[in-house]
Amino acid sequence: MKDIITLGIESSCDETSVAVVKNGREVLSNVIDSQIKIHEQYGGVVPEIASRNHVEAISRVTHRALEEANIKFEDIDHIACTYGPGLVGALLVGVSYAKALSYTLNIPLIGTNHIQGHIAANYITHKDLEPPFLCMIISGGHTHLVYIKNYIEFEILGKTRDDAIGEAFDKVARVIGLGYPGGPKIDKLAKEGIPNIQLPKSRFDNLDFSFSGIKTAIINLHHKNPEINRADLCASFEENVTQVLLDNVLKAVKQLDIKKVALAGGVSANTYIREKFMELEKTHNMKVYYPTPILCTDNAAMIASAGYYNFINGKRSDLFLNAIPNLKLGEET
Ligand SMILES: Nc1ncnc2c1ncn2[C@@H]1O[C@H](COP(=O)(O)OP(=O)(O)OP(=O)(O)O)[C@@H](O)[C@H]1O
Ligand SMILES: [Mg+2]
Repeated sequence: MKDIITLGIESSCDETSVAVVKNGREVLSNVIDSQIKIHEQYGGVVPEIASRNHVEAISRVTHRALEEANIKFEDIDHIACTYGPGLVGALLVGVSYAKALSYTLNIPLIGTNHIQGHIAANYITHKDLEPPFLCMIISGGHTHLVYIKNYIEFEILGKTRDDAIGEAFDKVARVIGLGYPGGPKIDKLAKEGIPNIQLPKSRFDNLDFSFSGIKTAIINLHHKNPEINRADLCASFEENVTQVLLDNVLKAVKQLDIKKVALAGGVSANTYIREKFMELEKTHNMKVYYPTPILCTDNAAMIASAGYYNFINGKRSDLFLNAIPNLKLGEET
């Protein structure tokens, strides 16, 4: 069978990324141009600045991705670009560029869901992973427990009712003075602490999550006692939220009688969360998957992988494709 070459384009937030992926799982290049340094000074992503930097970067990043993969534009079989969810101005840059390329090269375009991309990052890291499985999506904007029925069909079993877990990591880090982006900084500092601080745990009858309570509790604790041991606070926070994730995953495992679980999204780079999920292999006879760290946060290889599966399942977009900032997983037409 002829190889299928996908060009993936990702611009939903503050990373301009373009990747070349062969047959959905083999990464030939994955160029990520991060704007973290630019947004760091504002303590978070400034949407208008992000859009302008995507415009400046997109063509350069694309040419570098082709160069690193050692291919030409004519070798690409189809294009997959993120069209949501994300920042509208940022998304529009990738979508417009992808449409122009698709028209010029006369090859199919597939608008691809960013969250489907986060899930697909696991297919690149684990060549043997196939649906069905459970996926715990933990990112900057999402906390979704999803049943992956097949490569293109998803059922959301539970989700956060307020803040995403990544938002909680970033907010806690900012309040205790660790800076932006907070996730990796909490990950590092927590290793020096002991989880000895009592924090509230959210629990629902269904498989939903909530992280605003713990975030507020930490803000209040730090406000009342600015000298509180920050390493202990980070360790306690991580232990608390990880337990909430594990509790819901185990409930879902029981309900669906499924033994495979994958982590996805930026927060799945967290070493403590990975370690605790890995323990399920021994304690619950499960198989646990997570992407390599570079594929956890935003990148175009994961979009190319998800786009490839959309492509071989017959999905196509036309040149009316638009950015959809609040695009939902599993609700696409
Ligand atoms: N080691 C880590 N530990 C905890 N959190 C981390 C770690 N590394 C990154 N993160 C968090 O991951 C988040 C970014 O992930 P990602 O890029 O997937 O989110 P996003 O693209 O902004 O949101 P979404 O994918 O939901 O649209 C940030 O909140 C960041 O703090
Ligand atoms: Mg993301």
